[in-house]
Amino acid sequence: MNHLTSINPFFAARNSLPEPETFQPPRKREWAKLPRAPINASPVPHLTSLYHFDDDDQYGDRKYPGNCGGNLIKDLLRFFQSERVFDPMSGSGTCRDVCRDLSVECVSGDIHHGFDLCEPKEFFGEAARFERRSFDFVWIHPPYWRQKLYAADARDLSRCPTLDAFLQRYALALAHCAYVLKPGGILAVLMGDYIDRDEGFVPLTYHTKRLAFECGLRQHSTDIIRFGHGASSSKKVYRSSFIPGLHDHCMLFRKPTESL
Ligand SMILES: C[S@@+](CC[C@H](N)C(=O)[O-])C[C@H]1O[C@@H](n2cnc3c(N)ncnc32)[C@H](O)[C@@H]1O
Repeated sequence: MNHLTSINPFFAARNSLPEPETFQPPRKREWAKLPRAPINASPVPHLTSLYHFDDDDQYGDRKYPGNCGGNLIKDLLRFFQSERVFDPMSGSGTCRDVCRDLSVECVSGDIHHGFDLCEPKEFFGEAARFERRSFDFVWIHPPYWRQKLYAADARDLSRCPTLDAFLQRYALALAHCAYVLKPGGILAVLMGDYIDRDEGFVPLTYHTKRLAFECGLRQHSTDIIRFGHGASSSKKVYRSSFIPGLHDHCMLFRKPTESL
């Protein structure tokens, strides 16, 4: 019993944190021993399926909601030796900044600047601005549906009112990325699952793979599990019981050389 329980037990039941015996304060950081990676001919030997670097980098703007840091993008561009990059959900410009650093050509856009990746007219027909088979690497870090809201624009994926509406537009976004890739090119998607207030657990990583395969893309290699260092939710205390997700997935898809 605490002091509030004795003053007003009904108020206390509604508002207090659980009694100290059951309440566990946020844990301190823990150190995990990572498995040893095999020696191989990769030009980026530290790039494995576990991406755990939490250093701040100078790419993009850390204050932008959803900023992802640039080191993973940099490692992927070095690994794939990419020369022409499409960055159609640029946010604070993280991918663009990495490309500038590596002297790689990069074409960026974002709904904040009026570019809608889900709009077919950007890719097909008279007014198309992007050509088929014109990039060898595409980087996207889409909204995790409405987990965070981005632009005050109904075309923003985070503004889709239902999961079905989100998945329909997300399918268009992925199809357009596949369309602009050269055969053999790579689409890298950084995505996380999340718990929605109405839909419950939304397996967005599963949907990403399903939709990418429907566009004719193939999985290139293992997913890269990116540790979520610096996530704002890590500092919160919740009353409910759940298994916290501390990572997101970077999924790598390849356009088959014999394709489209
Ligand atoms: C997770 S944030 C990307 C943040 C970026 N990785 C960074 O480091 O700054 C997702 C971005 O997708 C953009 N976006 C949402 N819907 C879009 C659409 N239909 N077309 C283009 N961009 C869109 C949002 O404006 C937002 O900037």
